[in-house]
This record gives sequence, structure tokens and C-alpha cells, in this order.
Amino acid sequence: MKLEVEGLTVRFGPRVVLDRIDLAVPSGGLHVILGGSGVGKSRLLRCLNGLERPAAGTVRVGEREVTSMGERELEELRQDVGYVFQHSALFDSMSVFDNIAWAAREHRGLRGADLREEVVRCLARVGLQTFVESMERLAPAALSGGERKRVALARAMALAPRVLLHDEPTAGLDPASSRLVGDLIGALNKDEGLTSVVVTHDLDLAMRLAHRISLLAGGRFVFEGTAGQLRERSAGGEVRRYLEGERADEDAEPLASPLTAGQE
Ligand SMILES: Nc1ncnc2c1ncn2[C@@H]1O[C@H](COP(=O)(O)OP(=O)(O)O)[C@@H](O)[C@H]1O
Ligand SMILES: [Mg+2]
Repeated sequence: MKLEVEGLTVRFGPRVVLDRIDLAVPSGGLHVILGGSGVGKSRLLRCLNGLERPAAGTVRVGEREVTSMGERELEELRQDVGYVFQHSALFDSMSVFDNIAWAAREHRGLRGADLREEVVRCLARVGLQTFVESMERLAPAALSGGERKRVALARAMALAPRVLLHDEPTAGLDPASSRLVGDLIGALNKDEGLTSVVVTHDLDLAMRLAHRISLLAGGRFVFEGTAGQLRERSAGGEVRRYLEGERADEDAEPLASPLTAGQE
């Protein structure tokens, strides 16, 4: 399912956080939006499944226009467009198993043996199948950060989404867990034919994972292209400086004109 964003504008009071952003992700694409802290990555992602309504612009998912949807349509949309929150946002009062079962029951109406089978499949999808028995007892709080993130991915998959949105999937994880979670996001995209959007300040993750990368700074995309093109254009550590916020806003010399770099 493809994603198309045009002229997306998001404000915080009088301040323009996102300034007429355009973005196109083809069906099955894996697009990484890279940016430093506070540049508006989460707010952009939230607009993609209607958690936030932009001040201006349009968001299309498949053939549907998101910004004009009512609550009911938004609920339907959010089954197709899963959102994996930065801090996993699992239900702490439920077991790991029930966290995943909840999604499949509430949104797809699965019950009984079908439901159990689906939960096991989702756990297997994120490499946690050997723990099925203990997952019925364990609370998310008992898991490591990396495991919690994998459970959050499993819960998102239990919705049978067509699009998956990831907010800072490696934030707070050690390098080994970050790599594992990155690999999983790539595998889910490839094997399940998902369309994936990842927002992150993790340059290594972006380089490893992305089909295409957009670099967000000062409310605009200052680069759009492949990982290889980004590497070429940032030899002097320029991208890292963007991510650390030293080149934010007006002083920033764009790496390339917005949305044109690397597009044939
Ligand atoms: N309570 C709030 N609600 C919405 N926007 C906020 C709020 N507080 C701050 N903002 C603005 O939104 C900007 C972008 O926030 P966010 O999308 O969370 O950034 P990022 O995810 O890139 O770190 C912030 O820099 C700030 O100006
Ligand atoms: Mg954020």
C-alpha cells in the first residue's frame, strides 16, 4: 500500500514545525526519515495514521485521504497502518501473550485456537517463539528493552497491517539489540510485503535499512535519496552535524534542494 504526502504543514503555536513536506513511499518501500531531536519526526509520523491532523496538506494511504477522515474511518485506517511507539507502549497489566492477543481479538475478531495460533505466529515472527509458555505469564516489565521492542513489533503485526510506522525503534537500546530490531524491521518489510516508514536519529540504522532516506532539518527535507547518495554527500560529517542539531534552521545550507536529490 503506497503512501503519499503533499504540502504537509504542522505547527506548534505560531511556530512552523513542518513546512510543506512532500513524501512518496511506494508499496513495499522502506523509507527512513532521519533527523535530530525535536525536528518534528514523531509529529510527521502521527499525521500518517491520523493520530494528528496537520495544519495543512494531504496524506494519502493507498487511495484514501487521511486528513479528512472521521473517527470511524480513522479506526479502520489504523488497522492497515500500524504504529510502533518509541517506548513500545505495551499494556503493563497484561501478559506479553495477552498484549498480542488483544490486538488480534479487538481488531480482527480472532478467538480460541485461531487467536492462539496467530499469537504464536507473531511471536515467531520476532524470534520469541521459544518463550510462548512463559509469555503467557510474563509481564512486559520483566523483559529487556530489546525484547519489549520485539513484542511491540509482534503486537503491531497481529493487526495484519499493510503499512508499519516505527518511531525511533532503536532509542534506548544497546548496539546488539539495535541491530536485531533493525534486522527485524527489514525482514518484516521484505517478507510480509509491508510498506514501512521509520523515523530515527540513528544514522547507522538508516544506512543499513533504508530503500530511501529523507533528512529532516528546519522543517524541510534537506536531502532525499538512497543511503549510498547520502554517504557520498556527507563525507565531511555533515549529516552527523545535522543530527546533533548544530546546523538546524536558517543557517543550514541544504545538502541538496529538497526532494530532488537523487530522483531521476
Ligand atoms: N505538547 C506538544 N505538542 C505538540 N508539539 C509540541 C509539543 N511540545 C513541543 N512541540 C513541538 O513539536 C516539535 C517536534 O516534536 P517531535 O515531533 O516530537 O520531534 P522529534 O520526534 O523529531 O523529536 C518540538 O520541537 C516542539 O517545537
Ligand atoms: Mg520523536
